[in-house]
Amino acid sequence: MIKINEEQKIFDLSGKDFNYILAVNQFGYLENLYFGKKIEYTGFIKNFTEARGHGVCVSGERNRHADASQFMLEYSSVGAGDFRIPSIIVNQKSGARTCDLKYSSYKIVEKRFSSPLPKCRGGETLVISLTDESAGVTVDLYYTIYDDISAIVRSVNVKNMSNDEIYLDKAYSFNIDLPYDDYRITGLFGAHLKERSVESEKIMRGTHTLSSLRGVSSAQINPFIAVSDSYATENIGRVYGFNLIYSGNFELNVSLDEIDHLRINGGIASEDFGWFLKSGEEFETPECVIAYSDKGFNGMSAAFHDLYREHLINEKFVYASRPIVINNWEATYFNFDENKLKSIIDSVKGTGIDTFVLDDGWFGKRNDDTTSLGDWFANKEKLPDGLKSVSDYCHKNGLKFGLWFEPEMVSPESELYKHHPTWVVKIDGRSPCLGRDQLVLDLTNEKVVDFIVETISSHIENDGLDYIKWDMNRSITDQYSSTLLKENQKEFNHRYVLGLYSALKRITEKYPSVLIEGCASGGCRFDAGILAYCPQIWTSDNSDAYSRTRIQYGTSYCYPPSAMSCHVSVCPNHQTGRVTPFESRIAIASLGAFGFELDSTKLSDDERSAVKAACSSYRQDEVLLLGGDLIRLKSPFKDGYFAEMLVSKDKRRAKLTVMPPNSFGNDKFYFVRLYGLNENAMYRLNGQSVASGSALVHRGYYLPRVSGDYNTIVVYLEQTD
Ligand code: DGJ
Repeated sequence: MIKINEEQKIFDLSGKDFNYILAVNQFGYLENLYFGKKIEYTGFIKNFTEARGHGVCVSGERNRHADASQFMLEYSSVGAGDFRIPSIIVNQKSGARTCDLKYSSYKIVEKRFSSPLPKCRGGETLVISLTDESAGVTVDLYYTIYDDISAIVRSVNVKNMSNDEIYLDKAYSFNIDLPYDDYRITGLFGAHLKERSVESEKIMRGTHTLSSLRGVSSAQINPFIAVSDSYATENIGRVYGFNLIYSGNFELNVSLDEIDHLRINGGIASEDFGWFLKSGEEFETPECVIAYSDKGFNGMSAAFHDLYREHLINEKFVYASRPIVINNWEATYFNFDENKLKSIIDSVKGTGIDTFVLDDGWFGKRNDDTTSLGDWFANKEKLPDGLKSVSDYCHKNGLKFGLWFEPEMVSPESELYKHHPTWVVKIDGRSPCLGRDQLVLDLTNEKVVDFIVETISSHIENDGLDYIKWDMNRSITDQYSSTLLKENQKEFNHRYVLGLYSALKRITEKYPSVLIEGCASGGCRFDAGILAYCPQIWTSDNSDAYSRTRIQYGTSYCYPPSAMSCHVSVCPNHQTGRVTPFESRIAIASLGAFGFELDSTKLSDDERSAVKAACSSYRQDEVLLLGGDLIRLKSPFKDGYFAEMLVSKDKRRAKLTVMPPNSFGNDKFYFVRLYGLNENAMYRLNGQSVASGSALVHRGYYLPRVSGDYNTIVVYLEQTD
């Protein structure tokens, strides 16, 4: 709900569990008065400017109590007395950069969805405009809230109101200043094969920046940061979570100043960024979701999950039964032919697996990863009858057909590169960096985007594709486009991301029933921007069940389980060499959009029966996975082992999955408190014993002792009445 006190210029935005209260101070600046647990609004809250400031006065004022560095600003620039990290830098015609943004107006609007930049749907949106007439700029701050979700969505539109060009060195999505209160920061860090590990630090004075300059949101640092009470756990404490809906270079800063004001701001990375705005033009930033929880990190994740499921992910897929995939990558790598593919398809008939995905190696002369990206026509040696023959075979046998592409890339050894050398990201006279022996296509060039859309469209239509795996296997270097003017070159990184979103938007709108799964060397571009177009993303190339407990645990901080594509693979695992029980691989993979990544022709009879049983129970539990709440109970990072529970929204059904620590001998008795159950209800466990919700929450569930390594325990809970 949005409540506005016109006279005092107070804006009170309330979501499910919070108030976010803004006001214009006597100097015209928009300040944050309060962001936190729901409170009854009383007039006393607007007491902000008295007794503040002994520093530089705000422009034109002789009041010694007006120090912009001490205001709790909602957006800020440089040169006007706020010396903290700014949200925007506006270069004006004269070369001056000073910009002093003061309140000018507000309005309630319907959000526009004309650009391909992903945005959350629905809710109520307030726009507050800040203006600096001398700099010729107006900044519209967008705030979207939802009555039933504990998150606020922010973004910014910058308008050039002057008669001259202006140049932005930086344009963040949001800024918020909060009083510091013994907080910590938490982020998701990693690398290929170990994406999104949860790490937490005490906040020091100065600035802590989390960013990616790889051209993709990256496995190294996810575009997420949380600020929480230092004692916060998964279930208690205040947590503010910030997640950018963006897939390219980003930065998120947390700065603690000398008077214990905490500034959190961020958006598109300001390194290697610039944007020209002609008179009258606008620049739109990506959205940032700010979640609030006073019930620990699980509460923060619930806000992100609910928002993304209800208002960001494609409505057609988000709650729909997902394909159970068999993917041939770990089964064959590049080494397959039509017969091999058909034998894989034959071997899964009747198991419940319903989609065959043909991975890398089906096109051009691709027998390893050095060649042919861009030559998206079937490899005649492997597939003499073309893709249609494999697709028809799938359809004849009741399976859907999915196909792998790496649309943003081109191999130097390819027909595409030979015919379109200028379509590549490179600089004349400089030999470009290769990554995995490949070059990046210039997605800032509309012709390249058209080529990608047309190529994929023709395969969807001619080869009957039901599903696409959209991969991207390198970071971007040599940022330059031959189609951009010299003065626009710093727009390259963001224009690339807009080109990507444009291609995805056009394809998903044209073929609404084709599911596109995101992928980038596993989970190197796992972010909310991709989720807007791809309801699920390949979580990691690491398919080892033990490693996956960590990766999926961290990923769930922001992204719902149904967004994580998770496959069962063979042992010893191809990435770690670890041997884990088949049941554990199934239990952990079925905590996401489920599938298999193995040579199903080699399954034993027992394994084949296990696959069949796994598909059937996955389907029974899928409603929990797609729409339930995920409650993290034991952290592989902090507690040394993994326990999570999926709970239906009405709390009548739940599924607990635990991978207890490996046995040492004479182990202690581990127990898990089942937060998230209805404490007033009785539950039947695995169809047998009955326990009260309150006992399961407060006394906890004692884990049976299991021998052997990497076992999992799965317990189903059903309310008895
Ligand atoms: C990286 C992906 O993450 C893998 O699943 C696979 O598709 C390979 N690329 C193929 O090159």
